[in-house]
Amino acid sequence: MRKKIIAGNWKMNKTPSEAKALVAEIKEKVAGATCDVVVCPTAICIPGVVEELKGSNVAVGAQNVHFKESGAYTGELAGNMLKEAGVTYVIIGHSERRQYFGETDETVNLRTKAALEAGLLPIVCVGESLTEREQGITDDTVRRQTKIAFLGISAEDAKKIVIAYEPVWAIGTGKTATAEQADEVCGIIRETIAGLYGKETAEAIRIQYGGSMNAKNAAELLAKPNIDGGLIGGASLKAEDFSVIVEAAK
Ligand code: G3H
Repeated sequence: MRKKIIAGNWKMNKTPSEAKALVAEIKEKVAGATCDVVVCPTAICIPGVVEELKGSNVAVGAQNVHFKESGAYTGELAGNMLKEAGVTYVIIGHSERRQYFGETDETVNLRTKAALEAGLLPIVCVGESLTEREQGITDDTVRRQTKIAFLGISAEDAKKIVIAYEPVWAIGTGKTATAEQADEVCGIIRETIAGLYGKETAEAIRIQYGGSMNAKNAAELLAKPNIDGGLIGGASLKAEDFSVIVEAAK
């Protein structure tokens, strides 16, 4: 039985003081959670959020990590920096990174390996665009993204990775994939992992759904056999809504 994982991706929202206030509220509301709970603030908010969450059951994630250990990479953050700051998880290859910042399947793979190397747990995002869905190539897209993301990663490390299936057309649009659509693609991703590592690893790995998941639709999505959690954008910025989703992840 896989433990569910609910992660809030705050994207470029909240100042350091707002971030601290939000997690102070969240940690109270999710204290009894039976799933893993993660919040992913912007990098500048991480120290304050880590401090506020000390002793709580809420882990902190970063929204990106660079693939080099150090050097002349202005504006980037290395895995060991995040680790030392108290970060546990890191989102890699979010579609917004792919769309606006030139991330490719290859850089996603490099970042995933660097994260593991630094002792961070990657949340690797995959998902088709609207055009790809309309062209009927959703399966090919997520298979390709998954296979490249896991290139050169051992089965032992693969189990530490959380995959987030996020259909790009459902992100921030209010259009959620139906629970059936989401479950079907998460199943394809699991099958892809089975092809790479075998059934045992595929059964162990956690696959989240992300894309307009909210307090109202979370329970239905999370009840599906291949959906092991959620990567939540908009609804993670409200403690009440986020805690309802966490509650739904039994
Ligand atoms: O990382 C989170 C996803 O992009 C989902 O965002 O819940 O605002 O649609 P959303």
